Amino acid sequence: METIIVANWKMNPQSLPKAKELFNSVRNWIKKNSNILQSVRIIICPPFVYLESISKLLKTKNFRLKVELGAQNLFWEEKGAFTGEISPKMLKNLGVKYVIVGHSERRKILGESDEMINKKLKAAIKAKIKPILCIGETFEERKRGKTFKVLKNQLTKSLTHLTTQPLNYLILAYEPIWAIGTGNPCKPEDAKEVLLFLRKFTQPLFRSITQTLILYGGSVNSKIAKDYIKIGFDGLLVGGASLKKTEFVEIIKDIAKD
Ligand code: PGA
Repeated sequence: METIIVANWKMNPQSLPKAKELFNSVRNWIKKNSNILQSVRIIICPPFVYLESISKLLKTKNFRLKVELGAQNLFWEEKGAFTGEISPKMLKNLGVKYVIVGHSERRKILGESDEMINKKLKAAIKAKIKPILCIGETFEERKRGKTFKVLKNQLTKSLTHLTTQPLNYLILAYEPIWAIGTGNPCKPEDAKEVLLFLRKFTQPLFRSITQTLILYGGSVNSKIAKDYIKIGFDGLLVGGASLKKTEFVEIIKDIAKD
């Protein structure tokens, strides 16, 4: 089975040359080490404005490795008067294969609801872009023992009318909100409880023999990255650490090692 490593650059870096430099440094390392990367799929999610340039770099000759392009968001309508939004087709035309949907920063800062997330998921699937659906609880909710209830609620609402789709259309990312960008990752043993809950919850939802891919995200660093894979996660969603070339490469290296 392949392990997925998603790099969520968020609103970084601040210029196109810097974005290219970051991408190229990772790419050059990957190129040199392609032999050990057979079982790893890397998905780079830059801000919208860098997608085209990164897409071109991905298409260059001799770079047929498992590195793919993802977007950090999309809009649910196909076209029209939606100032500031980006359609699924626009992304598809740039070679985008994956899209992060429902990141907690968007839920919190931009008021994205589960209903909006549901529309985005439907639009992504229609355009044949694979969504990476983020779910997670706040610290308060965890403290009150509400984690499973919150996740169940997020999943049920955002997957409305979607469970008849083939299972492999969706990737789930468990991202406890309190762990994102705090340097305080969820302990692997606690994340494992959530993973088991999510496996149990998603299994009967979809009619398929393969299981939903589930990633962990939230202050992942090279010291603990592998621990989440060992306990059964299918991959990682990496924010801050994906902006530091050496650290990101360390994460890939560790995951790729058997
Ligand atoms: P972090 O971000 O790794 O910086 O915590 C993860 C994310 O927001 O996806």
